Amino acid sequence: MFSRIVGTGSYLPERVVTNDELARTVDTSDEWVRTRTGIRSRHVAAEGQLASDLALPASQRALQSAGLRPADIDLIIVATTTPDIIFPSTACILQSKLGIAGCPAFDVQAVCSGFVYALTIADLFIRSGQAKHVLVVGTEVYSRILDWSDRSTCVLFGDGAGAVILAASEKPGILATKLHADGSHKEMLCVPGSVNGGKVWGSPFVRMDGGAVFKFAVRVFEEGAREVLEAAGLKVADLDWFIPHQANIRIMEATAKKLGLPKEKLIATVHHHGNTSAASIPLALDEAVKDGRILPGQTLLLEGVGGGFTWGAVLLRW
Ligand code: UT7
Repeated sequence: MFSRIVGTGSYLPERVVTNDELARTVDTSDEWVRTRTGIRSRHVAAEGQLASDLALPASQRALQSAGLRPADIDLIIVATTTPDIIFPSTACILQSKLGIAGCPAFDVQAVCSGFVYALTIADLFIRSGQAKHVLVVGTEVYSRILDWSDRSTCVLFGDGAGAVILAASEKPGILATKLHADGSHKEMLCVPGSVNGGKVWGSPFVRMDGGAVFKFAVRVFEEGAREVLEAAGLKVADLDWFIPHQANIRIMEATAKKLGLPKEKLIATVHHHGNTSAASIPLALDEAVKDGRILPGQTLLLEGVGGGFTWGAVLLRW
């Protein structure tokens, strides 16, 4: 038994914030942000719009493209670092908004690797016969955990959600997966605050050593790609599309170069939604499916890297 992606969907909040708009409130410029990151604009959720509110339309669109109803779903996994509330999980809240009950639902917290972690878990549930149709969602409202006066972080992130339906299938599907973590790099990228006794202890905003994250990401993207390709008995030349976590176009292009992969095989959507953490891979995937770039039979490599540090890769046949 294998698992295959049979539907994709995404949702971006209405409000678009351009680099020029940010440059009116922090000491930055459209030129700096574009040349250092590739980002031109990002979407920002409306006040009161939560991770589950973005996840709902993304999930409904994924269900529609799979030709399924919410009642067909037998597992929900939501990857998010910006859950609606501390608990219940955003997956449980999403389940209720979808109007279903009974199937298991849980969140995965692996920051920007969250979608790759969630997809890997979903694949294992399907291959072990525990589930037939899994809704896997990456959804984030990073705008809530940004210090909008810190130019080194606020220009990088955005809000959004992407979803896929992973279904049991006799032909693959997912060919190989590999996850990693190294908790010793906590300080490189974190939100160090916590809720304690009714107060926030420590900073509730994203803190990052951008240069260190950049180097780490390029290294593990290359290693992770080679690892899953080897596990599946494939070569870099067999890849049709590379869909890495959308954080910075320079990280993606540097990885493609190290792998010897032509830039044309890189799917990059970071320019119009910024870094949406766990949502970035399914957002890019959905866009490339809908615009007709991704075709049946093609081989795709999805890779995530983020706080933890966590990283991982999923190699699949469309
Ligand atoms: O999801 C994973 C999480 N994050 C990432 O993947 C991000 C990884 N890192 C990066 O994308 C890049 O390191 C950044 C985009 C964050 C920074 O690019 P960089 O080329 O590494 O620039 P830098 O950190 O070396 O900064 C260069 C200069 C500094 O000024 P000085 O010290 O050279 O005078 C910064 O203060 O740019 C300054 N700077 C800015 N200038 C204008 C930092 N942020 C800004 C800004 N606008 N928004």
